[in-house]
This record gives sequence, C-alpha cells and structure tokens, in this order.
Amino acid sequence: MLYEHIKSSTDGSVGIIRLDRPEVLNALNLKIVDEIVEEMERMDRDGAIRVIVLTGSDKAFAAGADIGEMADEAVIPLLLKDQFAVWDRIAKITKPIIAAVSGFVLGGGCELMMNCDMIVASETIRIGQPEIKLGVMPGAGGTQRLTKAVGKAKAMEMLLTGEPITAEQALQYGLINKVVPVEMYFTEAMKLAKQIALQPPVAARLIKKAVLKAIDNPLDEGLEYERNCFYLLFASEDRSEGMKAFAEKRRPTFSGR
Ligand code: CAA
Repeated sequence: MLYEHIKSSTDGSVGIIRLDRPEVLNALNLKIVDEIVEEMERMDRDGAIRVIVLTGSDKAFAAGADIGEMADEAVIPLLLKDQFAVWDRIAKITKPIIAAVSGFVLGGGCELMMNCDMIVASETIRIGQPEIKLGVMPGAGGTQRLTKAVGKAKAMEMLLTGEPITAEQALQYGLINKVVPVEMYFTEAMKLAKQIALQPPVAARLIKKAVLKAIDNPLDEGLEYERNCFYLLFASEDRSEGMKAFAEKRRPTFSGR
C-alpha cells in the first residue's frame, strides 16, 4: 500500500508506522490521520502482525493538528466534515499499540500518543496541549484522555496554560511508560513490542480490551467482563500450550489460536 504521509514496515511480527511530514514537524492534516488509521486497521487484520509501533522523527512525533489546514474553517463545514470520527477507530484496534515518541508531542500529537496503549519516550520530548494559545481547545480527546491519565489538577494546568511538560514530568505523572536517551527510544519501543509479540495474541487482545474497560466502565461491569474473558481463554490452544510448556519446563510456542 502506497501512502503519502506515512511509512509502513514490519520487523518480524511487529508492524511499524512512521509519520513522515518532516517539513511541518509531522503536523496532522486530515490525510495523514486517515492514512495512520487505515494502516493500523490493515495491520490489525494481518495475522502475521502481533504488535503495532507508531513513531515519528527524533525532532517531532507530531506538532499537533495542521494549523494551516484549520485556519480558514467555518463552523458548519467543520461540523459536517466530522473529522474526529476517524480517531474513534483507533480505539477499536485490537492489537497492542506502542508509541515511540521524541521531540514535540503537541496538541493532536499528544492526543494521538494517548490513543496508544504504551509509550516509550526520548528525553527530548515536550508534551502538551497548546490549543488554548490558538483560541481553541483539544478536539481529538485531549481533555478526556489527559484527565484520565494524569488526574484533574495536572490536566487543568496543562490544558489551561498550554505549556508543555518534560519527559521527567510525564514519567512522574504516569502519562508515559519509559524515558531513554534519544538514540534509544525507538529500539526500546521495539524491544517492548517484541517481548509482547511473543505472548499469546488472543490473551493479549482480551487483556487490552479489559484494561480499556477499566478506564471507561464501572468496576462491577469490568470485573464481569474480565471473568468472562478469563473463562473464554480456556478454549484457546495457546492456553493448553502455555500450561503444558510450564509443566514440561520448556518455552511455549504460541500459535495465536
Ligand atoms: N501545523 C502546521 N504547521 C506546523 C505546525 C502545525 N501544528 N507545527 C509546526 N509547523 C510548521 C511551521 O509552520 C514551520 O513551517 P515553515 O518552515 O514553512 O515556516 C515548520 O513546521 C517548522 O516549525 P517552526 O519553524 O515553528 O519550528 P520551531 O522549532 O521554531 O518550533 C514548535 C516548533 C514549538 C512545535 C512550533 O512549530 C509550534 O508551536 N507549532 C504549533 C504547535 C501547536 O500549536 N499545536 C496544536 C495545534 S491545534 C490541535 O492540535 C487541535 C487538536 O486538538 C486536534
């Protein structure tokens, strides 16, 4: 598949999507978001891929929505375009998604990062929601996902000042998983991806869904969902293989069935 603004590749069973609009620090125009989502969905259907890594450049994961594209928008055409609907499809990807981020992670870039399941960052990141400085506010989930991730007080501060936070702060706030020097963030993300890719994919899929339920659903519903998924996994070949391999003191080989 040929794309204009992203590059897609694979390394073993890890699918890699790289944002590629260096001239505008990977600003997110409508086309790049469409391409990212389309490629994520393609990878989600591809049985050979078990984990997806989403990355940008060392200088910028993404510096936000494309301001040039938005500058002359009028309300009704904007409403009719419903440009954020495509973002909702990212939440439906069943495979784990790891964001490998560096440099500017701003506005829509921060929202895209927060749509991923785990985040490996370089020490150089500046993460923020600067929309208020443009007279607007986040529109792709920033007020909701940031608040759920870092809590009300810190989210309010970031959203109302528009000022970015550092890697150290993001780690301390629990917004990201890991910080490493800039030369290592992509390799570290790949290491994590390959470790997860060795796990049984059906269990990974159900675990991902159950964790996302914990964010959005009442506890009793989440617990019921978790229990049902637990029982369901007893029908998988990988469950038999995992337990058999443990008893035989060998490494399991998971087929994804
Ligand atoms: N949209 C379009 N173009 C952008 C852009 C964006 N979000 N961010 C950077 N660019 C462009 C610049 O216009 C510039 O292009 P030219 O060379 O043609 O002038 C190029 O990328 C390089 O940028 P700078 O020269 O500004 O680089 P810098 O290192 O001096 O500054 C920066 C980097 C601090 C990230 C600065 O570019 C900046 O503040 N960008 C805008 C960040 C922002 O406000 N993002 C939020 C957008 S709104 C949003 O995201 C809404 C939503 O919720 C979906």
